[in-house]
Amino acid sequence: MKNNNKIIAANWKMNGSEELMKEFSQLTRAKRNDIIICPPFTFLDSAKTILPDFIKIGAQNCSEEEKGAFTGEISASMLQEKSVSHVLIGHSERRTLFNETDDIILKKVKTAIKSKLTPIVCIGETLSEKEANKTLQVLDSQINGSLAKIEPNEQVIVAYEPVWAIGTGLRPDENEIKETHLYIKTKLNQHFDTDIPILYGGSANSENCSQILSIDNVGGLLVGGASLKKHDFNAICNC
Ligand code: PGA
Repeated sequence: MKNNNKIIAANWKMNGSEELMKEFSQLTRAKRNDIIICPPFTFLDSAKTILPDFIKIGAQNCSEEEKGAFTGEISASMLQEKSVSHVLIGHSERRTLFNETDDIILKKVKTAIKSKLTPIVCIGETLSEKEANKTLQVLDSQINGSLAKIEPNEQVIVAYEPVWAIGTGLRPDENEIKETHLYIKTKLNQHFDTDIPILYGGSANSENCSQILSIDNVGGLLVGGASLKKHDFNAICNC
């Protein structure tokens, strides 16, 4: 199974430093994987100047509003002015810690698209939902609540991240990833005109990247913890 032309996205969360950014200036990419780094907002400028040109810059969030009296918020158009090309939307930490609903996520996706950013929309089930055999039901409702309501000709990326696998070292087995990605793909194909890349996220690292990337319908990885270590992330970029 070929592993090239995958999307490798790094989610630094509220971590990182100028020093780390400088270390990442030495990243390489042997295969033609698309690399996207999503640092905290305050590092977006230095990401643009320090990182190699082949790396695209993403943000981790944007406001659902376009402008106005929303203290502390940052709009999609402001990100676009910072040379940001992608934005994570609906990460499970945003859904649970910041009460983002599918309605809010839909609004964010729309404003991102309007500002010519490519949204990376995160979906995935919690452990209790998995244990209650509700994984596909949850994915269905998250897709119906946001992705299925945008225009079929839009360009988006979807990240399937089982919440219980994020930062835990746990991971679904190969068959589970295969089953969920096929389910998501079939559902997205019913709505979108073009093929939507589906990334896997949740404890992906330099040791398991090649195996995960070889699973059918896995279009890339969304990497948290392992994206903060230059050696590991470089290995993943070259996976
Ligand atoms: P992890 O995080 O790779 O540390 O599990 C993934 C994510 O939260 O996007």
